[in-house]
Amino acid sequence: MKLLSVLLVSSVAAQLGAISSVVRNGSELQLNGKRWTASGANVYWLGLDENVGPTPGEPYYEPTKASYPSKGRVTEIMNVLQVLGATTIRSHTLGVSTGNPLSLWPTLRQTNEAAFEAIDWAVYQAREHGIRLIVPLTDNYDYYHGGRYNFLRWRGINVRTTLPTDPAVMQFYTNRTIVDDFKEYIRTLLTHVNPYTGLTYAEDPTIVAYETGNELGGAVFQDLNVPVTWTTDISAYIKELGPSKLVVDGTYGIQKVALKITTVDIYSNHFWPANIPKLTTDIAAVGAASKTYIAGEYEWTGNSQSAAPLTDWFAVVEAQQNKSQPVVVGDHLWSLFGHAVPDCSKYVDHADGNTMHYGNPSNSAKTNAQISAVRQHLFKMKGEAVGTALPIAPCPGAGF
Ligand SMILES: *[C@@H]1O[C@H](CO)[C@@H](O)[C@H](O)[C@H]1NC(C)=O
Ligand SMILES: *[C@@H]1O[C@H](CO)[C@@H](O)[C@H](O)[C@H]1NC(C)=O
Ligand SMILES: *[C@@H]1O[C@H](CO)[C@@H](O)[C@H](O)[C@H]1NC(C)=O
Repeated sequence: MKLLSVLLVSSVAAQLGAISSVVRNGSELQLNGKRWTASGANVYWLGLDENVGPTPGEPYYEPTKASYPSKGRVTEIMNVLQVLGATTIRSHTLGVSTGNPLSLWPTLRQTNEAAFEAIDWAVYQAREHGIRLIVPLTDNYDYYHGGRYNFLRWRGINVRTTLPTDPAVMQFYTNRTIVDDFKEYIRTLLTHVNPYTGLTYAEDPTIVAYETGNELGGAVFQDLNVPVTWTTDISAYIKELGPSKLVVDGTYGIQKVALKITTVDIYSNHFWPANIPKLTTDIAAVGAASKTYIAGEYEWTGNSQSAAPLTDWFAVVEAQQNKSQPVVVGDHLWSLFGHAVPDCSKYVDHADGNTMHYGNPSNSAKTNAQISAVRQHLFKMKGEAVGTALPIAPCPGAGF
């Protein structure tokens, strides 16, 4: 049985074109023995969106405006990422999917198989476009896609979800029953077989890393209060299910005591706005522990008064790439959207002031200059040089 399933899996992989797993070697990531970097964009909506719809005949959850993205939207954004020079996407909704009828787990330990379709398609499309994925498994907040509050509520712990929240929120990390619920959720996700690839998410090297959560903390914003015992337990469990998966510590910021967890490969921080001292301090701390680091989110628009110029901030990341141990292995802009495919005449907007629309004819010259700087940076991270032009990325249009 075991041998047969290995043969089946490898024949599917051969049809797809086999790909290797990314590995961590000290403070460097490697693919097939060579330096590999993980840079690109946050595309948080790949598994479930909140910015389009309702679409006649398609599932829609009105209270949070949630709907599955069209297949064409997903294909288009992969085209955009290729043209931008990205190697990776960070996407919340390929892992965070709890608490509403369209989620993977609408309620405790009840799996909605229909929710896998959008996730399966996105993982497959990323793979076909040579893009890899970094996927958070829960969220610190109470947004449309779900997060830690669902796991608490399912066990009768109803805490205020606006920060600062009730200290009882710590039960997400400390209550054995709730930790076991979360691990069962992770198992449900990672053992699912993607019909487009014949591989489980645990097996498919397209998913480079699972992140224990997005911007995790305790009751107070950015308090770093994530128990080391929890991160150790969850990261070890991810590797038990997927031995070749890398693990990102989802704590918001660098918690020094967590740097020694052997089953964590990557630490991260978010940049609202771009900030050079914070970046260099983090690189020093993570480098001293012989681990790797990503800037999981950064504000790309340059509209914030307090921001360092984006090109100066990129230069710090790029300079590290000349070292044998770069420590910082990538960064991800917040956040990328495309057209309302099959309607290739209209863009989808997420009204947070940070939406990047690559190729939008109504972009200002300043916006296109920022996008061009991002593109040059992404190619530099792969060791390639490109000019300032922004080549067209095809929109698949109707037919999906
Ligand atoms: C780690 O990288 C170094 C330098 O590139 C190389 O010599 C060594 O073989 C690598 N170790 C592993 C386990 O791949
Ligand atoms: C964990 O949560 C369950 C369900 O709410 C509760 O019965 C139990 O007492 C909690 N355990 C601890 C140690 O607080
Ligand atoms: C990194 O190395 C390249 C190639 O040797 C060089 O062109 C570039 O100036 C270096 N960058 C920094 C920031 O040192």
